[in-house]
Amino acid sequence: MSIHGRDIVSIRDLSREEIEGLLASARKMIPLAEGSRSSRALKDKVVAMAFFEPSTRTRLSFEAAVHRLGGNCLTIADAGATSLRKGESLYDTIRMLSSYSDAIVLRHPNEGAARLAARASERPVINAGDGAGQHPTQTLLDLATMHEAFGTLSGLSVVLLGDLKYGRTVHSLAYALAQFGSEIVLSSPPSLRLPEQHLAELKRLGAKVREEPLLASAVKAADVLYVTRIQKERFADDAEYRAVSGSYRIDTSVLAHAKPRLIVMHPLPRAGEIAPEVDATPHAAYFRQAFLAVPVRMALLAGILGPARRGA
Ligand code: NCD
Repeated sequence: MSIHGRDIVSIRDLSREEIEGLLASARKMIPLAEGSRSSRALKDKVVAMAFFEPSTRTRLSFEAAVHRLGGNCLTIADAGATSLRKGESLYDTIRMLSSYSDAIVLRHPNEGAARLAARASERPVINAGDGAGQHPTQTLLDLATMHEAFGTLSGLSVVLLGDLKYGRTVHSLAYALAQFGSEIVLSSPPSLRLPEQHLAELKRLGAKVREEPLLASAVKAADVLYVTRIQKERFADDAEYRAVSGSYRIDTSVLAHAKPRLIVMHPLPRAGEIAPEVDATPHAAYFRQAFLAVPVRMALLAGILGPARRGA
C-alpha cells in the first residue's frame, strides 16, 4: 500500500513492507540530504512543524528534510508563543493549522495527542513524539542505522537500555523489532521497566523478548546497544527520579567484552549515559544515527506528500 496522504501516529500504522520501502527510499535520499544533489519533490508544499515540547534533532532534521526537497515550513517551536497560552484547545489549533499547510508534524507532551490531532486535521499528521507514547519517525531512522550497519533487520540481538517506562523511542522501536524478528533484550532499573501492557502485547505478537537487568550480561551477546536518557520531565515525583539518576553509564570498560561489531545507538540528547570516550570507538553510531534522520524524514515526507503511486 502507498503511504501517500496517510497519518503516521504509531509505528504500527506501517507494515513491514512499507517500512522496507521507506528505508530503501531513504538510502537514495542520502546524497540529497548531504546537499550533493538537489530535488524539488516538495516544491510548493508547506509543512507545519507544531512543536509543543523541546526538540533539537527532530524539528531541525524535519525542517532540513523539507528544505532539501524544495518545500517550505511553518514552525511553532515554542508553545508559549501560541494561542494555547490563551486557552485554545489542541483540536482547534490543529484544525486551523491544517488549513494553512499540506501536512503537520506534531510533538506534544500528552500521550494520545497525535491521534487526536489526526482526527482534527484535514491533512496528514506525523507524530514526532507524544509524551511517553510513541515516536515512529525516530524508529524509522533507528532501523535505517541498524540496516546500514548490518545489512539486515532480522536476527539481530538488540538491547534496549535505560528508561523503558517513559521512553517513547523504545516503545516504538520494540514493535518494529518484533515485526522484523530481532531479539529484544530489555535492560532497565527495576522502577523503569517496560510497562506490562507493552510487554504483554509484544509477547502476543510473537516477539522474542526477554528482560536482562544485568548490563554486563546484556552487552555480551548484543549486536545493538540502544541507550536512552532517563526522561526526567515525565516523573511525577523528583525523589523517584533521583533514585535512578546515574544508575547506568556506558564507557569503554563496559564495552570491553562486547562483540567487535556491536553498535551503540542513542536517540540523543545524552545526559551522561554514554561517556564521551565512546565517541572515538568504532562502536559509536549515534552521530550517524542523528544524520540519518534527514534522509529518512525526506523519504517519509516525499512518500506522504509526493505524487500518489504504488509502494512507498
Ligand atoms: C528523544 C525524544 O524526544 O523522545 N529525542 C529525539 O527525538 N531524538 C529522546 C529523548 O528526549 O530522550
